[in-house]
Amino acid sequence: MDLFEYQARDLFAAHEVPVLDGLVATTPAEARSAAEQLLRGAGLVVVKAQVKTGGRGKAGGVKLARTPDEAEQVAAQILGMDIKGHTVHRVLVALGADIDKEYYVSLLLDRAERRYLAMASVEGGMEIEQLAVERPEALARIPVDPLVGIDEAKADEIVAAAGFDEAVAPRVAQVLRRLWAVYDEEDATLVEVNPLVLTTDGRVIALDGKDPLEARAKAKHLNYVKLDGQVGIIGNGAGLVMSTLDVVAYAGEAHGGVRPANFLDIGGGASAQVMADGLDIILSDPQVKAVFVNVFGGITACDEVARGIVAALEMLGDEASKPLVVRLDGNNVAEGRAILAAAAHPLVTLAETMDGGADAAAALAAAA
Ligand SMILES: Nc1ncnc2c1ncn2[C@@H]1O[C@H](COP(=O)(O)OP(=O)(O)O)[C@@H](O)[C@H]1O
Ligand SMILES: [Mg+2]
Repeated sequence: MDLFEYQARDLFAAHEVPVLDGLVATTPAEARSAAEQLLRGAGLVVVKAQVKTGGRGKAGGVKLARTPDEAEQVAAQILGMDIKGHTVHRVLVALGADIDKEYYVSLLLDRAERRYLAMASVEGGMEIEQLAVERPEALARIPVDPLVGIDEAKADEIVAAAGFDEAVAPRVAQVLRRLWAVYDEEDATLVEVNPLVLTTDGRVIALDGKDPLEARAKAKHLNYVKLDGQVGIIGNGAGLVMSTLDVVAYAGEAHGGVRPANFLDIGGGASAQVMADGLDIILSDPQVKAVFVNVFGGITACDEVARGIVAALEMLGDEASKPLVVRLDGNNVAEGRAILAAAAHPLVTLAETMDGGADAAAALAAAA
């Protein structure tokens, strides 16, 4: 899974897919104040582990709370928990829904058939792989013409095939049309909502969602293109990133043919947050084995870039698990290198030159 739930939720909200209000917290105290805000006018919140894997509910990573005290307590239990090898560093504190029914919907690229596919089921909640195996007849699969997308007729066809009640079908159909907008406008290759719920007061809401890399990069306004190799690349300025791709491809030839994994230009005035977003996206690519950060300090000087890298690694915690080779040049390069040297992060190696950095990153990727 490529996207944290709270990131998918933001993307959904931007396209008017109904989601519940929520706030991200990294400590029990933050979870408490998030719950204080959300519980004004509501009786229930849910505290949800933010990890890039499903099955959080079953693992004890989704818990209800009725008071700020309770939210703080369950957040303390969930933060630090290990879910399928992912440590929980963040929780989403969201409004609790009074659930009547749980459904499943997704849109994906059917590579084998060279078309899009919508899948829907009135039996949501459980893992979809399990549903597909145990009750394949309960999962409707409807092809979608890429040129037409999900218009009213297609949305009606999908809800009819899945057997939604007449009373709820129009609302689910509307959600499907909006999810199509997410899929289409964000260049996603998968959008999945599990569960889509019907609340006891008759609303249809996306309670959990995911969406992959390129859509996420776009949502963060990052200039990212996924490629097929093993060396993740971050640079500033399209020209520098292009030449970094070339140098890495060339260096990779001497290391068993490893290749660049992406194009990512974080632009001129990259803050720590932009560096963290960029690293997060690259590190989420399971094909990436090592990362080469190649930055020329200009408007943003090297010391700031270095602080950005250190802050990004801190923000990402053990989501950052692959070696990073960093080459800095330009304004304040000595300070930048000194900051990285002082931080002495075990995953970070400093390189003096672009060729040296590319070679080191290719070697690390080949050895991984
Ligand atoms: N906002 C919410 N209010 C009430 N129940 C929720 C809420 N979010 C999730 N749940 C319940 O927890 C279950 C698991 O949550 P979900 O977000 O689907 O995580 P995962 O798929 O990783 O287990 C859902 O199927 C739903 O029953
Ligand atoms: Mg789910």
